[in-house]
Amino acid sequence: MGTNYRPQPPFRGGGTPAPSRTADRYFELKGEIHRKLIGVLNMERVSSIPKERVRAEIGRVVERLLEDERVPMTTAEQNKIVEEVLDEVLGLGPLEPLLKEPSISDILVNGSGKVYIERNGKLALTAVRFRDNAHLLHIIEKIVSQVGRRIDEAQPIVDARLPDGSRVNAIIPPLALDGPALSIRRFGRHVITSEEMLGNHTLTQGMLQFLAACVEARVTVLISGGTGSGKTTMLNALSRFIPEEERIITIEDTAELQLQQRHVVKMETRPASVNKEGAINQRQLVRTALRMRPDRIIVGECRGPEALDMLQAMNTGVEGSMSTVHANSPRDAFSRLEAMVLMADLEMPSRVVIQQLASAIKVVVQLSRLQDGSRKILSIAEVTGVKDERIQMQEIFTFDRVGVTDAGKVQGRFHGAGVAPRVLDRLRVAGIKLPPAVFEDTLAVNL
Ligand SMILES: Nc1ncnc2c1ncn2[C@@H]1O[C@H](COP(=O)(O)OP(=O)(O)O)[C@@H](O)[C@H]1O
Ligand SMILES: [Mg+2]
Repeated sequence: MGTNYRPQPPFRGGGTPAPSRTADRYFELKGEIHRKLIGVLNMERVSSIPKERVRAEIGRVVERLLEDERVPMTTAEQNKIVEEVLDEVLGLGPLEPLLKEPSISDILVNGSGKVYIERNGKLALTAVRFRDNAHLLHIIEKIVSQVGRRIDEAQPIVDARLPDGSRVNAIIPPLALDGPALSIRRFGRHVITSEEMLGNHTLTQGMLQFLAACVEARVTVLISGGTGSGKTTMLNALSRFIPEEERIITIEDTAELQLQQRHVVKMETRPASVNKEGAINQRQLVRTALRMRPDRIIVGECRGPEALDMLQAMNTGVEGSMSTVHANSPRDAFSRLEAMVLMADLEMPSRVVIQQLASAIKVVVQLSRLQDGSRKILSIAEVTGVKDERIQMQEIFTFDRVGVTDAGKVQGRFHGAGVAPRVLDRLRVAGIKLPPAVFEDTLAVNL
């Protein structure tokens, strides 16, 4: 990938100039055409022309300007410049071809010279370049002004949502040291389904059957893992097992969940405005959600004091709520939640917090991104109680790593612990029967 977007140098003959020189001259020519175009364009008139015609009309002007330059080039090269100048004037410049590509899920720009994309879960450097950091900054300003925000030295960080639902985060100097950094996480990007997760060995059929049953029976499931381990993806996949008739409220900092049910209210936090006013955090949204008669509340990621409100919600009837937490093991997940709850209410004795966590959260799913880039559930554990102020857990499913193949693929084995989980009683009450074979499931991976 990447080479598709390399600006094809229109200059031929007269020896072969160094690629960077060629690229410089290419940018120069494009910049020149762009400047001239701005000079002759009547922007007011442009905005009054129907959108479909704008491209065609401006395209003709660019072609004329290009002819005036008298630079020898093929029709294909000329068309390319016309397209790129149009992208610059009407769109987001060098980002346009990437934005038009639906298979690209993330676009990550680290300064003018490095543009990465993620597609099919893989990150790759592209040949897309900005002229310089000022050009990149200009495009960032264009993005944030579209959504009524601004970015400058006084306000060097912007987190915003584009009209199409994509999330944009930009940070500029002096906070970003190597030039402006921009991340675009596209909305509507393909979310990996549970079937695909079975296919790529994120989990086994038995694990999925068990988790689906838990979700359906309103057993609270917590998803734990590091950054990029696939927590949000798993939450999305599991949320599909929530029965259609339930009222679901989702709360996120960045709306990523794509629930299929009809009865969903989506909420998103809001950062403070330029005047440091108007911030709405997850905790406020959880409290609001509780007054909205939810059947379930899904908090995209628990990071702070909202943990307390979630906990109280779960212990007072909003069962089957779900969330994720950034942690390296189920035990670590509980310590983090405990710390978050204690931060929210310093008066609450730790003993009480632990008791409440143990009674609210029944199942913890531990995800990890392994060294070969694959995501796996390393453990599904259930909470069995509290002893000596420690939450007791037992593993129901585990992935044991054995080694690595010559090709660098992680080898291992998924296996059930062979014990019937206590939560089975809850499932049975809800009318769900799981055959014992589910918990004896084993699956060899790359062995
Ligand atoms: N089970 C999976 N199999 C393959 N790729 C995955 C899986 N889960 C997530 N990914 C990839 O990893 C990226 C990060 O996943 P995400 O769920 O956002 O992680 P987290 O919420 O833990 O930070 C996603 O864009 C997706 O492409
Ligand atoms: Mg996430």
